[in-house]
Amino acid sequence: VSVQKLHRTGYHFQPKKHWINDPNGPFYFNGYYHLFYQYNPKGAVWGNIVWAHSVSKDLINWIPLEPAIFPSKPFDKYGCWSGSATVLPGNKPVILYTGIIDKNNTQVQNYAVPANLSDPYLREWIKPDNNPLIVAEKGVNKTAFRDPTTAWLGADKQWRILLGGRNKDTGMSFLYKSKDFMKWNKAEKPLHSVAGTGNWECPDFFPVAEKGNKNGLDASTNNKNGKHVHKVSLDATRYEYYTLGSYNAEKDEYVPDKTSPDNWKGLRLDYGNFYASKSFFDPSKNRRIYWGWANESDAAEDDVRKGWAGIQLIPRRIWLDSNGKQLLQWPVEELETLRGKKIHLSDVAMKKGDKIEVKGITAAQADIEVTFSFPNLDKAEPFDPSWANLDAQDVCAKKGSFVHGGLGPFGLATLASQNLEEYTPVFFRVFKAADKYKVLMCSDARKSSLKNEKGWYKPSFAGFVDADLADKKLSLRSLIDNSVVESFGAGGKTCMSSRVYPTLAIYKNAHLYVFNNGTETVTIKTLDAWSMRRPKQMN
Ligand code: FRU
Repeated sequence: VSVQKLHRTGYHFQPKKHWINDPNGPFYFNGYYHLFYQYNPKGAVWGNIVWAHSVSKDLINWIPLEPAIFPSKPFDKYGCWSGSATVLPGNKPVILYTGIIDKNNTQVQNYAVPANLSDPYLREWIKPDNNPLIVAEKGVNKTAFRDPTTAWLGADKQWRILLGGRNKDTGMSFLYKSKDFMKWNKAEKPLHSVAGTGNWECPDFFPVAEKGNKNGLDASTNNKNGKHVHKVSLDATRYEYYTLGSYNAEKDEYVPDKTSPDNWKGLRLDYGNFYASKSFFDPSKNRRIYWGWANESDAAEDDVRKGWAGIQLIPRRIWLDSNGKQLLQWPVEELETLRGKKIHLSDVAMKKGDKIEVKGITAAQADIEVTFSFPNLDKAEPFDPSWANLDAQDVCAKKGSFVHGGLGPFGLATLASQNLEEYTPVFFRVFKAADKYKVLMCSDARKSSLKNEKGWYKPSFAGFVDADLADKKLSLRSLIDNSVVESFGAGGKTCMSSRVYPTLAIYKNAHLYVFNNGTETVTIKTLDAWSMRRPKQMN
């Protein structure tokens, strides 16, 4: 199959061809970042899963290596599924991953270690013969028993990991403990479980520094009075949610904060196409970084025709918001090294219906940061009380960018054709509810492509933004890259990613506009937009 170039990304992580899914086992070791990912070496649909491997000095330029872990032993003969890396004391990386041992998808947990620690790329990995380390005990569903986390060390000198799974319809993160990393015992209780959420995949669990502190913490940091994050990927709905909470390390109890809804209505790292995400602590820059996978939103036949499917989104630094109620996220600073030609605007007032083109940059491959200001909130439209039970995505479907409002909709029309036959608007709309203002942020793919085949997924992704409106400003950053738009609202409070497949708005025919479709005048306080280069090396 020849690989179709159209819609391939310019600066997002993707291999030359074939299917990819979850990011696996990211870690930093002796000057290199390692990224593994679920990969089908034989085609553009899911199957034949191995751990593909790439290394990088900067998270942007990547050197592709041969697959690190692939089926070869009885304990992983039918697949090498997701997992995590832990760097053990003495700077010794070890990977824990899920092996599939039969045609019924029976799952066990294995480990692998580098064959040669003095190889800077750690190309070759060994799967010792004392695998598997963990098998499902009686009564546990062995086909929903996978995706080990990075291990953390407790004060009792025991290692701990989580595994995702379920008991009937109750999603859970099983807790296992070990003194030597080899013999693992299941704790009596899962670390966490929630009835009605279905199977949990790719759990993640880690401490965060105090409110507003951008530094990350290693998984084993004793964070007694601080907060932890517990993230899961919901198999049933194909999106994720996280809670912030307190972790009692002596009792191994995790209690989510009251401010974090602990169900499918929970806080999300991304309200769009983002799944099976994984974080790691980067000791070289003292930060925690999240990787998320975005699959294609078109039909499987199109993936096969394209010869490729799936990308990793730009890695994001994460930290605890100064309000203590949510995480903030921002693309890693290294991305800025790809910024080329720049356009700057400031203090441009936009009346209702105004549309300003940002000219002079490559609109199909760009990075834009914009801050909007408005005189007051008086014109915010009422929030219909009958929407109380709707989620943001449904509200966005009712009130898209073209439905005129009061304060908003205003924002960016990305990947737009000249006359807006196609565009993906990323925008805000401010509503006045009974007791407070509600800020809606949307990344609406419904008009992203004239192509309208069955199987195309063009949702009006959206989330509410817990923004402080006191200074009467809202900011937005969007990373546009041919078939993906990744957006960060209000400094990373609400983020969402869309995959889109324009037919007209491609390469040089893509345009970028700033628009206001609300009665209140909105001012572009500052706008900086850059053409984005390709990395020098990308798989
Ligand atoms: C999530 C997932 C994981 C599993 C892997 C298999 O996307 O289903 O639970 O380990 O993908 O490729």
